[in-house]
Amino acid sequence: MQELQERTFVMVKPDGVCRGLIGEVLSRIERRGLKVVAMKMVWLDEERARMHYAEHADKPFFSSLVSFITSGPVVCMVVEGRNAIRAMRSLCGSTNPIEAHAGTMRGDLALDIGRNVVHASDSPASAEREISIHFDPAEILDYERCEESWLYE
Ligand code: RTP
Ligand code: MG
Repeated sequence: MQELQERTFVMVKPDGVCRGLIGEVLSRIERRGLKVVAMKMVWLDEERARMHYAEHADKPFFSSLVSFITSGPVVCMVVEGRNAIRAMRSLCGSTNPIEAHAGTMRGDLALDIGRNVVHASDSPASAEREISIHFDPAEILDYERCEESWLYE
């Protein structure tokens, strides 16, 4: 079944930025055929970090998650493509890098569940919510990549 083009929210976390992995992450996204339609580097404040991870507010790891995600700059992106949400989750791999398959970003680039390099929205509702937290609609750009007729039937 051919699914609609979707948008998802992706973030290179502070460990990914500080380890010099922005290019590696971007390259894997681009090579998959997904299109980056918005991107910016920011240092999240606590309020936005808490909003971003609101679903985990009751979890024991919430405060360490918020301190980590505000500990350095992050790169925020909106990524578009067919089944973009599932495609990005499969590129990221399992939450705990030690369980993530080789070939995924977490499986290749990380070892610790609290330092797993990259975030991607887990559902259409999360994608919409997270995009609206981090981007204004005017920051999301509409353009064509030259290989689109080779990516999609
Ligand atoms: P993310 O939201 O960052 O893309 O990660 P995810 O969907 O794969 O995992 P999620 O369940 O949403 O958890 C968010 C982040 O919290 C940290 N975590 N720590 N100590 C723990 O048991 C635990 N569980 C989750 C991870 O850094 C995870 O990416
Ligand atoms: Mg998540």
